[in-house]
Amino acid sequence: MEQPVVAQARPYIMEMEPGDYFWCRCGRSGKQPFCDGSHKGTGFTPLKVTISARKQVAWCGCKRSQAGHLCDGSHEKFG
Ligand code: FES
Ligand code: FES
Repeated sequence: MEQPVVAQARPYIMEMEPGDYFWCRCGRSGKQPFCDGSHKGTGFTPLKVTISARKQVAWCGCKRSQAGHLCDGSHEKFG
């Protein structure tokens, strides 16, 4: 199976406002951690994430998390 690109081997820690976001699964976006359409032609599609209240999010940058868009420490393998 096609592997995503490691955008960065650590999370993107961001203060998020409520809203809908599209997390980049492929790792190719130039607007990490969000999709910019660069997945076109790959087998990947972005993951829609709805945030209902203001909070800090550790978006996975390595694209290997087993917890969807949230960093779960899997990036340690790439550090
Ligand atoms: Fe990576 Fe869209 S650019 S999923
Ligand atoms: Fe992907 Fe931490 S950045 S698991």
